[in-house]
Amino acid sequence: MNTLPEEKDWQPDSWQAKEAKQQASYPDAAELQSALVELAALPPLVTSWEILSLKQQIAQAQAGERFLLQGGDCAESFAECNSDVITNRLKVLLQMSLALTHGLQKPVIRVGRFAGQYAKPRSSDVETRAGVTLPSYRGDLVNSVDFTPEARRPDPKRLIQGHAMSSMTMNFVRSLVDGGFADLHHPEYWNLSWVQHSPLATEFQRLADSLGRAVNFMETISGRRAGVLKRVDFYTSHEALHLHYEQAGTRQVPRQSGWFDLTTHFPWIGMRTAALDGAHVEYFRGIRNPIGIKIGPTAGPDQVQRLLEILNPESEAGRIVLIHRMGMSQIESKLPPLIKAVQDTGSPVLWVCDPMHGNTETTSSGIKTRRFRNIMNETETSIQLHHQLGSHLGGVHLELTGENVTECTGGARNLVEADLKRAYKSIVDPRLNYEQALELSMLIVNKFEKLN
Ligand code: PEP
Ligand code: CO
Repeated sequence: MNTLPEEKDWQPDSWQAKEAKQQASYPDAAELQSALVELAALPPLVTSWEILSLKQQIAQAQAGERFLLQGGDCAESFAECNSDVITNRLKVLLQMSLALTHGLQKPVIRVGRFAGQYAKPRSSDVETRAGVTLPSYRGDLVNSVDFTPEARRPDPKRLIQGHAMSSMTMNFVRSLVDGGFADLHHPEYWNLSWVQHSPLATEFQRLADSLGRAVNFMETISGRRAGVLKRVDFYTSHEALHLHYEQAGTRQVPRQSGWFDLTTHFPWIGMRTAALDGAHVEYFRGIRNPIGIKIGPTAGPDQVQRLLEILNPESEAGRIVLIHRMGMSQIESKLPPLIKAVQDTGSPVLWVCDPMHGNTETTSSGIKTRRFRNIMNETETSIQLHHQLGSHLGGVHLELTGENVTECTGGARNLVEADLKRAYKSIVDPRLNYEQALELSMLIVNKFEKLN
């Protein structure tokens, strides 16, 4: 089924007639134009057939046959486009996906928040420090985080650099998953020393042991290492915020109708740019990719129903992923009316929980953090609420890293506020570290097991 609007109604630039929130304001229009022309001539990052196969897998997840794991940095940075960061992030995502596949007894769709997660929405256009006001940092695709006038000036050359960095990341990820790297999800490579510190140590040890036995069993009967049993698929995603960048990567391809955003497999609309009559919804309407929509506590049932009408008028399976991010304190009151409203439309969606963005807080010393307990509670409550209403939670969207950072408090090792100073590296939002990410995946398994 083709959800494509008639060509006369939509073009990759038709968003320009609408109000575009959260865009960079470039001082030199000609400079921007020449960067966009250069960008539009460069090869794409992904292919249409990969996008369509992801869409098919999301359709299966909508039917309850798969689970979606989407994770990565809040904001990727050019400085961290390096071997260790990419390898460790891939490793934790693979290990989490193995725990989830085994625990939920269904295949996991792996989607990274990487290879293009370089543009950020901000609460204010400007930032003031000690009486000096400069443009806000909007992600490495736009400007630099340093607080100087030169660094904060939006620079169109960064669009080309962002494409190049995304392509290097993508290239390395593809090589790793095509080669022997998938072996790293083999349990002997796991660092599980944290398990003994968890209140659920016994249950987690049982999960880890049964996972180890399952992998060994598969290897014994197949005679091959588990990692090479099946080539692992890895998809990419980012917030499609910078519409000039997305437009330059929006292409038609031979033997396919319509337009594809070939900067990523799975773009999403951020909470701040999901206005029904806004430029982002207009842009997303015309591309054939599966799309994510962040749903925050101010989105009412009507708005969600209208978004589905506009973005998926033919009710195509695999097209829409609704990523709710309500926060622990609002999930119970806000989610049920939305689940019912979507059920009333009969339109297929995949429900995913982002337990990060509604649970951000600032400590008394001004550090942005999140409590593991709130992240866990929002995830578990979501699983429960969907189950009670005859729906199902089909995935999670997480900010995480494979590094041993201290950005979120709590978890098995019970990080406290004083630990935050030790290894806080995120340039925007606080991420789960390696251990906290693995712990959350085990808690998810545990919660689903208890539902049955
Ligand atoms: C994000 O995912 O980093 C983000 C900004 O999320 P949201 O749009 O849900 O606030
Ligand atoms: Co974030």
